[in-house]
Amino acid sequence: MKVPFVDIPARLSPYRERFHAVLQRVLDHGQAILGPEVGEFEQGLAKFVGCAHAVTVANGTDALILGLKALGVSGGEIITTPMSYLASTSSIALAGATPVFADVGSDLNLDVAAVEKAINQRTRAIQVVHLGGNPARMTELKNLADAHGLMLIEDCAQAFGASMGNNVGTLGDLGAVSFHPLKNLGAVGDAGAIFTNDAAVADQLRLARNHGHSSRDQCEFWSINSRLDSLQAGFLLAMLEEFPAVLAARRGQAALYREGLGGVVGFPTVNAGASPSYNFLYVLADRRDELRMSLAQAGIDTRIHYPLPIHRMNAARNIAPAALANTERYTQQILSLPMGPHITTDHIAYVVEKMRAFYV
Ligand SMILES: Cc1ncc(COP(=O)(O)O)c(C=O)c1O
Repeated sequence: MKVPFVDIPARLSPYRERFHAVLQRVLDHGQAILGPEVGEFEQGLAKFVGCAHAVTVANGTDALILGLKALGVSGGEIITTPMSYLASTSSIALAGATPVFADVGSDLNLDVAAVEKAINQRTRAIQVVHLGGNPARMTELKNLADAHGLMLIEDCAQAFGASMGNNVGTLGDLGAVSFHPLKNLGAVGDAGAIFTNDAAVADQLRLARNHGHSSRDQCEFWSINSRLDSLQAGFLLAMLEEFPAVLAARRGQAALYREGLGGVVGFPTVNAGASPSYNFLYVLADRRDELRMSLAQAGIDTRIHYPLPIHRMNAARNIAPAALANTERYTQQILSLPMGPHITTDHIAYVVEKMRAFYV
């Protein structure tokens, strides 16, 4: 049996007809960028997530950079996790702030005590990542941020649809999401969005994504071009309408893996009240690299997100060292298993069987 890690054509295939209709509509009205589909998608997003404003941008990295700039946290230190995709750190530096690392806990997200230790007079914000769609300890992190007068930013790039009471992206001061094709709600290209309840921040972001233009000829501040294409917005709106079923299916697959692999490998802790979105199905495995090779021989494709923690990247050479023992340990154990619409219950049973056999 072959078990591919991901199959984007299979994920997109149910939407083909609707995508064709979107293409026809955009060809008819001709507003290729920031056309009516963009506003419609933003309204759909805000409603789905439960926030006052959703502002789309060209990708998730821009969502973080522009979001951080709009909150005015540039110039200060921002505490974040090294156990993530690098953009959660690079965005801080690119927004003109200083990234500071704190270690993760058993949920693979920022550890509250480690964050508290890293706070000093220069700290302006905490940028949390809900890794793989597993919500971080948001209540405690919010209390900590409030106690120290810090902003709390959520990198929800991997967590669209995850919730903890309310949806992630609405639990702090600002949420940023990616619609990269490998995300649960993945475009046919790049796309991203920012969630906020602050109308002034949303207004600022609408200018910031479009060169700072307040009118055709006037510019309020220098900024980048991070506008969303009408096609991507239309495609994403079509997929958003089906998203509750997509989410339910991923949660069902995660439950099957958990049931089948109990006692064989570990799983990241799911915090009280959290409903993960399972953008990635992580296990924590002893002899991970050997296991991975043995699964590959059985036709099972797995991935490591991420083999090199951010603090070990050359680009991070100037970031102050921190005690990151958990990040180091979990990086050796973490493995992402195949899931998604191309995966059947038979596939999962086969993966479980091969993993159990490996540890006998
Ligand atoms: C945690 C995290 N932050 C930020 C990003 C950046 O998103 P994008 O690739 O859309 O720029 C990603 C994308 O992989 C991510 O996983």
